[in-house]
Amino acid sequence: MMRLENKTAIVTGAGGGIGRASAVALAREGARVIVADIAADSAQETVDAIVETGGTASAAVADVSAEADVARVVEQAVTEYGGVDIVFNNAGIIRRADALDTTVEEWDRVFAVNVRSIFLMCKHVVPVLAAQGGGSIINTGSGWGLKGGGRALSYCASKGAVVNMTRALAIDHGPQGIRVNSVNPGDTDTGMLREEARQLAEPADQFLAEASDRPLRRMGRPAEIADAVVWLASDESSFVTGAAIVVDGGGIA
Ligand SMILES: NC(=O)c1ccc[n+]([C@@H]2O[C@H](COP(=O)([O-])OP(=O)(O)OC[C@H]3O[C@@H](n4cnc5c(N)ncnc54)[C@H](O)[C@@H]3O)[C@@H](O)[C@H]2O)c1
Repeated sequence: MMRLENKTAIVTGAGGGIGRASAVALAREGARVIVADIAADSAQETVDAIVETGGTASAAVADVSAEADVARVVEQAVTEYGGVDIVFNNAGIIRRADALDTTVEEWDRVFAVNVRSIFLMCKHVVPVLAAQGGGSIINTGSGWGLKGGGRALSYCASKGAVVNMTRALAIDHGPQGIRVNSVNPGDTDTGMLREEARQLAEPADQFLAEASDRPLRRMGRPAEIADAVVWLASDESSFVTGAAIVVDGGGIA
């Protein structure tokens, strides 16, 4: 018996990295997946990977910071699959800069993609989940939502917001049977880390080696974050809500 049979999941930022690994893992457990990403080709690649292995998925090209796009993603899930049970708000961007080197536009964009997106998704999907008697919302925070980090001011602020809005959402919508949790990865081997190295003008090899400096002596794999997402999506975590689950090889321990 698969753990998510007859469930429908929306995964944002599912065109790559942690989002793709999670979309694949949710589909492997039987969920039908709406693969939402701003990049059409990447979203389609994830859909193809799921369909090739016998799963069910469809792509939704969307900018999660835009309300009309988010509303359309939710509508697509309802139209194609009859509802929504699981939402993984995972799309995110990073800006590696301190206050002096962050422009107002960069600050606003980081908050629009990392934080406003979750508000918008909840605004549109909570009525659907509530009408069905509940569901599971998972938001991607970060170790840097629970502690500070250097030269990443807007990102740290945005991920702190994700962790605490997750708690507020859990309080508001628990009575409707909706669980809301954050999964907080440590450095995980995705395109984002290479983008950070580029922004900081550091050699990628050196940056990735530093990212492995944690008790388990390596970076995370996207599939390891996906395992936590599947657990939070499934009934195995039925009494878990408002939690910040850390998956980081001991990085912030
Ligand atoms: N990789 C890490 O070390 C790490 C650590 C902690 C937290 N995170 C968080 O995990 C999440 C996923 O990161 P990742 O490492 O897989 O990154 P990634 O860059 O590999 O993937 C991010 C995906 O989000 C998509 N995306 C970006 N902006 C979007 C938008 N406006 N609308 C829709 N889709 C958009 C991108 O196209 C991409 O497919 C992010 O929220 C990130 O902050 C990552």
